[in-house]
Amino acid sequence: MKVTFYGHACFMLEVNGKKLLFDPFIRMNALAAHIDVESIAADYILLSHGHGDHVADAKEIADRTGATLISNHEVVTWFQNLGVANVWGMNIGGKRKFDFGTVHLVNAIHSSTMPDGSYGGNPGGFIIEAGGKVLYYAGDTALHKDMELIGLHHRPDIAILPIGDNYTMGVEDSLLCCNMIRCTKVIGVHYNTFPPIEIDTVNAIRQYEIENKELILMEIGESKEI
Ligand code: NI
Ligand code: MN
Repeated sequence: MKVTFYGHACFMLEVNGKKLLFDPFIRMNALAAHIDVESIAADYILLSHGHGDHVADAKEIADRTGATLISNHEVVTWFQNLGVANVWGMNIGGKRKFDFGTVHLVNAIHSSTMPDGSYGGNPGGFIIEAGGKVLYYAGDTALHKDMELIGLHHRPDIAILPIGDNYTMGVEDSLLCCNMIRCTKVIGVHYNTFPPIEIDTVNAIRQYEIENKELILMEIGESKEI
């Protein structure tokens, strides 16, 4: 599995020859101005919920690449109504085998309105089983007890967790999440994009080290084999 970070909560996962783009929010992110959206290829676009800071570039990239949009039923229907050709709707608790691996749509505690204010279903997170590895992307969420089920059933090798606080978990809750999901390796996302989610990154990394866990904070545009 290879991960490329595109800023905020957007990243590309490359596995089994497929490109999975998560929560594209690039053009409107000033910190990601050096990323050329038009050069991003995708076979699938996975959306955790309907908020603009997770779906802003989804239609443009889906239209250009023909990628299949995977999200909850309401989010994919909204995009289908905008003319996106290929969509796959799921709902919380369901799993589906695709040509790259298996996707589980799991619970997140957050909200999910679409950019035009219409209903965006329930927010979710994704567990991807592919290439002999398990990755958990929590989406925007509070810490919640259902995460223990992920520890029981999935034991992710790596978790991509929000750490910016205010709208989602912060660093302390992300450490509790690690214990619940039984994972010690985290890529932090959803921090430092806007003033309300600014964090002390040096301190965040130190807090992880104290608990013998690893917090990876990637540069925007950086790729990493995981
Ligand atoms: Ni959100
Ligand atoms: Mn968000």
